[in-house]
Amino acid sequence: MIHEVQTEAEMLKLGEELAATLHSGDIVLLSGELGAGKTTLTKGIAQGLRILEDITSPTFTLMNTYPVSAESDVKTLVHIDTYRLKNQEELLEIGVEDYLGKPTTLCIIEWPEKIEGLLKNKKTIAITIEHTKNHTRTLTIERA
Ligand SMILES: Nc1ncnc2c1ncn2[C@@H]1O[C@H](COP(=O)(O)OP(=O)(O)OP(=O)(O)O)[C@@H](O)[C@H]1O
Ligand SMILES: [Mg+2]
Repeated sequence: MIHEVQTEAEMLKLGEELAATLHSGDIVLLSGELGAGKTTLTKGIAQGLRILEDITSPTFTLMNTYPVSAESDVKTLVHIDTYRLKNQEELLEIGVEDYLGKPTTLCIIEWPEKIEGLLKNKKTIAITIEHTKNHTRTLTIERA
């Protein structure tokens, strides 16, 4: 499915709508260049899950987790950013496998290309965000 958004607010709204179609156990892969809007889309998804906490980029922490209080089957939102990851082991050390594809978590991963090995045989939803011009972003959503 392809979506086009023209503003940051529209990206947030799309994330919010997307949240309604996501389930616990899902792994969402967000691909796109620096500044494409991966974290912004994640903020929208978090809004859709009624997470009140501020979503911050896990660029340095690698992984942030947020409890979900909404009457959703998702109990924990896990936001991963592998941009600064040196190797897969670094993520394993902080316990990523306790969350990936687990029945009560929704995982969102920025720069998933770097951890392909960890995602092998896992069902994923791949979203590619293309920065087309100025504020326009084109999203392609593929469910495996
Ligand atoms: N249509 C749009 N959708 C999303 N962000 C937009 C849009 N137009 C402009 N922006 C701006 O682009 C930037 C997107 O930043 P964001 O942190 O979401 O990107 P990112 O893909 O997570 O980058 P990184 O790879 O550095 O983590 C923000 O500064 C936002 O204000
Ligand atoms: Mg980001």
